[in-house]
Amino acid sequence: MEAAALGHFVSGLDKATKVIIVSNRQPWFHERVAERIRAFRPASGLVTALEPIIEAVGGTWIAHGSAPADRLVVDRKNRVRLPEDNPRFTLRRLWLTPKEEEGYYNGISNRALWPLCHLVYTKPRFSRSDWETYRDVNRRFSDAVLEEAGNSPAIVFTQDFHLALLPRFLREARPDLKLIQFWHIPWPNREAFRIFPWSGEILDGLLGNDLLGFHIQNHCNNFLDTVDKSMEAKVDYENFSVWRGGRPTFIRPFPISVDFRQIGIDAGLETVQAKKEGFLAQLGPSAAGTKICVGADRVDYTKGIPERLRGFDLLLRRNPDLKGKVTLMQLAAPSRTQIEEYRSINDEIEGLVEEINRRHGSEAWRPVHFLRANHDYHAVIAAYRMADVVLVTSLHDGMNLVAKEFIAARTDGDGVLLLSQYTGAARELTDALLVNPYDTDQLADAMLQAFRMPEEERRQRMARMRAQVEKNNIYEWGRKIFEELLRRVSFGKGRDAAGKSPRPHPAAGRKHPYLAVVKYLTYRCSSAILGKVNSRLPGGPA
Ligand code: F6P
Repeated sequence: MEAAALGHFVSGLDKATKVIIVSNRQPWFHERVAERIRAFRPASGLVTALEPIIEAVGGTWIAHGSAPADRLVVDRKNRVRLPEDNPRFTLRRLWLTPKEEEGYYNGISNRALWPLCHLVYTKPRFSRSDWETYRDVNRRFSDAVLEEAGNSPAIVFTQDFHLALLPRFLREARPDLKLIQFWHIPWPNREAFRIFPWSGEILDGLLGNDLLGFHIQNHCNNFLDTVDKSMEAKVDYENFSVWRGGRPTFIRPFPISVDFRQIGIDAGLETVQAKKEGFLAQLGPSAAGTKICVGADRVDYTKGIPERLRGFDLLLRRNPDLKGKVTLMQLAAPSRTQIEEYRSINDEIEGLVEEINRRHGSEAWRPVHFLRANHDYHAVIAAYRMADVVLVTSLHDGMNLVAKEFIAARTDGDGVLLLSQYTGAARELTDALLVNPYDTDQLADAMLQAFRMPEEERRQRMARMRAQVEKNNIYEWGRKIFEELLRRVSFGKGRDAAGKSPRPHPAAGRKHPYLAVVKYLTYRCSSAILGKVNSRLPGGPA
C-alpha cells in the first residue's frame, strides 16, 4: 500500500471522524539558523515511521514543543501547519515546564520505563514525585486531545510509553472515542514489569484503548501475561484481548516499518550525493578505497555501541592485514543528556574510540570516526549509501528502523546488514547476518564474513530484504492498524452519509475488511475441527 491509498482508506472510515496522533516527541522542531527559523526532523524511529502516516491521512499531531524556536512559529492556539513546503497536517504543541520535563520525561519515561522495558542491565529508578508529574502531564495531553477533538467523533492514535495513562483519561471523558496506542519499545516479562511501583495504573491506563499494538507477538504475549497475573481483568488468549470494566482491548502485533519508496527516491537526490562527499572529505584520503562500516544511532545504552566497537577492535587484532583497509564511521545523535546513564555511555564510547584508534591507527589511517551530531535525514541516507556494511548491534530493541532505512536506501542492491538478533527487525530480516552483540568473538567473525561476502551473495540477500521491506512498508503498517480498529469497534452511525462502510482504495488491491473477518472465522472453525487450534497465531488473528 502507498500513501494515497492509506489516506483514502482512513478518510473513508467516517467522513466526520478526526484523526489525532499524540506523542511526546514532535515530528518537526524549529530552530534559528542565521536569522532564519527552520524546521528539522528529530532523530527518532517513531517520527521516521509516523510522519509519512500523518501526511497521508491528514489530521492533527499533538506533541511536546521542546525546541528553542518552537514558540515563534505557532498561532494563538499553539498550532502550526507542516511540512513547511507543502503543509498536510497540523502540529499542536504542548509546552512543559522544566519540572514537568524532569519528572515525566527524564524521570518516569527514561529513568524508569525505558530501562525496565529494555532488558539491558541498567537499573530503573523510580520516584513518587516523578510519577505524580507523569500523571499530571498525561492529564495535560488528555486536555489537549479533548480540545482538538471538540464534539466530533475522533480516532486518537497515541504513541509510546510516555503516555500510558492518556487512554484511560480519554475513555473516562469521552467513551465514544476510538482509541489506539502503539508501544514502540519491548514489553518485558511479567517478573520484570512487576517491580514498577505503579504497574497497576499503567496497565489500567493502557486498557483504556480499543486496540493496543506492539512490534512482535512475543511482546503481546508478555503484556497479556502481565495483565493476567497482576490485575482484575479477563484475558482471552483465543482472541488476544483483555476485558476490563465491560470493554475489550485487543492486543496485536504490527511490525513497524519505513516509507520504502520515498527513501529510495530521496537516496538519489543531489543533496544526498553532496552529503556523501562531505562525509568522504571528513574521513580523509586514508578512508578512500577502504571498506566502510556505518553505525547510525542515538547515543543510548540499548544500542550496543560499545559492544560494536569491541567487536571491531577484536577484528583488527585478529586480522592485522585489515589495518588500513577498513573504516568504521559511527553517526551518533546526542540523546537524553540530562540523564547520568546517557552521559556515562557517551564517555565510555569516546574512551573506546580513542583506545582503538591509538592501538591500531597510524599517521595515514584512522580506524574509527565518531561523528557526534544531530545528522539530518539526508546525511543519514548518504551514510547508508556509502556503507559496505551497516552495523545494528542493539542489546534490545522493539524494532530498529535503521536496519529498514538502510535497506530502503540501497536501490543499487548492494551492502550487507549485520543485525542484532535482539531487535524486532531480526524476525523479518533473516537475510541479515544475525548476531548476539554480547558475544564479541561472534561480532568480530560476522564483520569478517561481511567484508568477505561475495558480491552475488550480497546482492541476493539484499534483494530478499528489499522485497520484505517493500511489502511491509509503513503504509501497510498503518492500513493493518486502522483495518483492525475497524473490525473491532463499531463505527455505527458514524459511517458515511450513505450508510456505507468504508472501503479501501482500489489501488490497495485489498479485499473488504469484513471479508478478512469471515476468512479468519472460517480458518478458526476448520482448525478447531482438525483439533489444531493454534492459540498463538503469528501476526495475530485477522
Ligand atoms: O522509539 C522509542 C523512542 O523513545 C521514541 O518514543 C522516541 O521518539 C525515540 O525513541 C527517541 O527518543 P527521544 O524522543 O526520547 O529522543
